[in-house]
Amino acid sequence: MTIDRSHCEALDRDDPLGHFRQEFDLPDGVIYLDGNSLGALPRATAGRLAAVVREEWGRNLIRSWNSAGWIDLPGRVGALIAGIVGAEADEVVAADSTSVNLFKLAAAAVQMRPGRRLILSEPGNFPTDLYILQGLAELLGDRVEVRLVEPEGLEAALTDEVALLLLTHVHYKTGRIHDMARLTAAAHRAGALTLWDLSHSAGALDVRLGEAGADFAVGCGYKYLNGGPGAPAFLYVARRHQDAVRPPLSGWMGHAAPFEFSDRYEPGAGIRRQLCGTPAILGLAALEEGVRIMARADMARVRAKSMRLGGLFLELVAQECPGVFAMHCPAEPEARGSQVSLRHPDGYAIVQALIARGVIGDFRAPDVLRFGFAPLYVSHADVFDAVAHLADIMHSQSWMDAAYQRRGAVT
Ligand SMILES: Cc1ncc(COP(=O)(O)O)c(C=O)c1O
Repeated sequence: MTIDRSHCEALDRDDPLGHFRQEFDLPDGVIYLDGNSLGALPRATAGRLAAVVREEWGRNLIRSWNSAGWIDLPGRVGALIAGIVGAEADEVVAADSTSVNLFKLAAAAVQMRPGRRLILSEPGNFPTDLYILQGLAELLGDRVEVRLVEPEGLEAALTDEVALLLLTHVHYKTGRIHDMARLTAAAHRAGALTLWDLSHSAGALDVRLGEAGADFAVGCGYKYLNGGPGAPAFLYVARRHQDAVRPPLSGWMGHAAPFEFSDRYEPGAGIRRQLCGTPAILGLAALEEGVRIMARADMARVRAKSMRLGGLFLELVAQECPGVFAMHCPAEPEARGSQVSLRHPDGYAIVQALIARGVIGDFRAPDVLRFGFAPLYVSHADVFDAVAHLADIMHSQSWMDAAYQRRGAVT
């Protein structure tokens, strides 16, 4: 059966999440398939930021740490994110960047497993995950070695030498999902801890950290959580570990009593000890607006729609451009995050030609075209129109235009 636009419009009419789109300020003429890199702007964010800047900062000045509850913002936003990733409210805090949070928790995990020297991850994991581990290993000298093992070999590699298994739940390039519960159980059987990078999962999948028995997790605030460029990240520490973690970045905001100004570091109770320096209030306020919307969505519905949108995109590509692209993502929707990846030797120019038509996806070197589907604001008709543009670009060969070959600093 040929898929036509009216079929997609019918799917949109039946979409229980369709009403969320009006909460985002999407420009006319843009089909946004890059919410997995930078989420769209929630309509509420500009007003919130204006109020924080003009009133809370401008008028109330330093009093706002108490009167506007600034000091509680990392925990408040964390508690909302907890509901999105299947954790308890006191197990998540919003702070720092994903990279910094990876460092904090990987270092803590190594301390919690004295005598074990291996940190296990996979080749091709997101670069910052690997770079942070390499930096940590260098800092700790011979104490730690980073070992990269292909996914098929991970369970066999979980020996009694392993302190930590660090994996990204949804792979940034291929969209492949790791089985969090199975790998966490395997790590625990070997006596190791797990740290999950949820950057491409939080807000797109029905993540269940608690059910999976995960020990630690981190994730970005600027992707599906719609917190804005460079938004604070989040981190999760299972309650059972919270008091055992000695924060390696022992800043004053994680102290038990920061305003006693004592000379001696004493970690705060629970998740609060994961804070390091003064919270970035403007970023947290923007993140809170994004997360508030997401927290109202039923994550099972979000996941169902994410699978439907990705599947629809792939079916339409097969229908409109047969044989043109190689698949670079799992074919089964259950094995794939909220993105699809295609390969083509001229992927960069093709993505630029799409962007020139208002269809924003992204390119990942060397040849991957990546399209993300943020279920709260991408419609089935958007997917239909995006593939129609893609097919037209391929059939007309308009991507060959010299303007589409030039590379910017950020790809
Ligand atoms: C899996 C993953 N981890 C981490 C990051 C980025 O971390 P940071 O926010 O510290 O730049 C990204 C960014 O795309 C990512 O995809």
